[in-house]
Amino acid sequence: VQVMHVTGARPNFPKAAPVIRALGSRGIQQQLVHTGQHYDEQMSEVFFRQLGLPAPDVNLAVGSGSHAIQTGEIMTRMERLILASRPRLLVVYGDVNSTLAATLVAAKLAVPVAHVEAGLRSFNRAMPEEINRLVTDRLSDLLFATSPEALVHLGNEGITAEKIFFVGNPMIDTLLANLHLLEPAAVRQQLGLPGRYAVATLHRPANVDDPDDAAKLVKVMHDVADQIIVVVPLHPRGRDRLRAAGFFRHPQIRVVEPMGYIEFLGLVRGAHVVVTDSGGVQEETTILGVPCLTLRPETERPVTITHGTNRLVTHEGLAAAIREVLSAEKASCLPVPPLWDGRAGERIADVVAQFLGDPGSAAGG
Ligand code: UD1
Ligand code: UDP
Repeated sequence: VQVMHVTGARPNFPKAAPVIRALGSRGIQQQLVHTGQHYDEQMSEVFFRQLGLPAPDVNLAVGSGSHAIQTGEIMTRMERLILASRPRLLVVYGDVNSTLAATLVAAKLAVPVAHVEAGLRSFNRAMPEEINRLVTDRLSDLLFATSPEALVHLGNEGITAEKIFFVGNPMIDTLLANLHLLEPAAVRQQLGLPGRYAVATLHRPANVDDPDDAAKLVKVMHDVADQIIVVVPLHPRGRDRLRAAGFFRHPQIRVVEPMGYIEFLGLVRGAHVVVTDSGGVQEETTILGVPCLTLRPETERPVTITHGTNRLVTHEGLAAAIREVLSAEKASCLPVPPLWDGRAGERIADVVAQFLGDPGSAAGG
């Protein structure tokens, strides 16, 4: 095998799709691995169908567990697989446990690693993702950055410029490629929604894991729902805890199952405002021009604030921020983050093709 891709969790799939497509059109031999970190139909399979991803060649079926159990299980199974397939390059995506585990295994087997979405930093190590990002970047041989500040972070960490490539954002490649399929009216009709509604996605451990945090979240989300109908495609992580905290009880809160990519982004495209703690959703709302209120103390994606519609809000400030957004004029012409132009997958494939042709030659650009 020339290139082995490792995916496993929902946000990996829209990032991998354009890279796999671009490498395929260059005739590069590929193997797609799904670790099984996410496994519900609506967290996994629906993305393969909608994004035209090939079915995984291998599914490691690790399932859920504590960080150590999940990471360890993926490592054990990945080691066997890498030894059998001997890829010339391993490509990993984002910052989930599957990303970290596969990188650790490949690095010790002397298989070069390419990291797509390198250099993002929240500078908050209470986030498991921050640890995954730091270690993955440290061990990677090709680092594909989605935004300019990532280049600064990698430079500050002493990673040599020759390994780093500013390529743009493959998540946005996928969004732009599917834009013509995103139909707010269809989703609105399906869910019986009025013209004016908000969308919320909430799954960060810091917001939903602890019962006190969940109670606090429910209170401020109910204040939001006093102002506008809120549709919440709820991630399985916080479902039980939020239910126990009374989240579902507000008449203007509409909790639904996690949605397919096309339906979800159709819903977001037609929303007045989005409340989220997701990484990817901060980026997508920036391109769709939908105001985004991020319920977190910091973001590893500051370009969505400087070049987009994103704003960080505290729990205390959320209801007022919603009021402000609902009474504001719609922003007209927004800048777009550099290279978020739908061609990141092509740029990544160019670098990978060059690397495979001559592993010593890939020079940073
Ligand atoms: C993971 C990523 C996070 C990412 C998120 C995207 C890590 C450390 N975290 O968080 O960065 O933002 O995915 O969605 O990798 N579950 C199901 N069905 C599934 C998958 C999960 O019910 O298909 C439930 C299980 O109870 C599981 C819990 O969700 O224990 C958490 O899943 P896990 O993959 O460990 O972390 P996420 O919170 O999904
Ligand atoms: N998403 C989706 N359906 C949903 C919620 C999210 O298709 O119900 C998509 C979203 O548009 C983005 C990706 O899933 O493309 C982001 O995943 P998530 O928020 O789970 O992870 P994060 O980006 O926070 O790591």
